[in-house]
Amino acid sequence: MTDIAGRQRDLRAMLIAAKIVPVLTIERVADAVPLARALVAGGVRTLEITLRTAAAIDAVKAVIADVPEAIVGIGTVLSAADFEQAHKLGARFTVSPGATPALLEAAAQSDLPLLPGVATASEVMQARDYGFDTLKFFPAEQAGGRAMLRAWAGPFPDLRVCPTGGITEANAAEWLGQPNVLAVGGSWICPTASIRAGDWAGITAMCARTMKSLSPG
Ligand code: 3PG
Repeated sequence: MTDIAGRQRDLRAMLIAAKIVPVLTIERVADAVPLARALVAGGVRTLEITLRTAAAIDAVKAVIADVPEAIVGIGTVLSAADFEQAHKLGARFTVSPGATPALLEAAAQSDLPLLPGVATASEVMQARDYGFDTLKFFPAEQAGGRAMLRAWAGPFPDLRVCPTGGITEANAAEWLGQPNVLAVGGSWICPTASIRAGDWAGITAMCARTMKSLSPG
């Protein structure tokens, strides 16, 4: 018997504390640790490393081993096999762009939290059927934006989301201001060009600036 409600509570608390979850696509393993350190130095500790590159698995291993301050999640989890791999690697959470029954079933039975992706009311309902009410709204801008979330608040008052897809420095605060948004995710906070250039100081500065702009007071 797994405590899915407890895991959802923990995931919510983690996302609220994070405010921003960078979606990281790491092309070179050697970039992983300096990138994670740059993000942490800018106040961004909760990281999603996507399974989109050949370097992803070794990048996850390196960050978990060498950057203990980072809370490492694995994203682009597309199957139960990916989910199991994330578990074996020691991820603290997982993220998927969609919500297939196979993946929801695997995650419902596991102690590893999953943030499943949804873009329609029926997908929200399917995720709820498996006990998930903390979801990734993806692709957020393209699938209806903040107006969509306001519409969902009627039938799904308990739903809480982390939107990703089209979030930018310019709109992050507006997204975070929605009552059903816990944190925002995206790649804008660590642009590919900055990673390729090894501009770690620039990434730290952008994180620090954005975190400050999102903090009340
Ligand atoms: C994701 O994988 O969550 C999105 O591709 C991130 O979207 P963005 O690149 O528009 O931030």
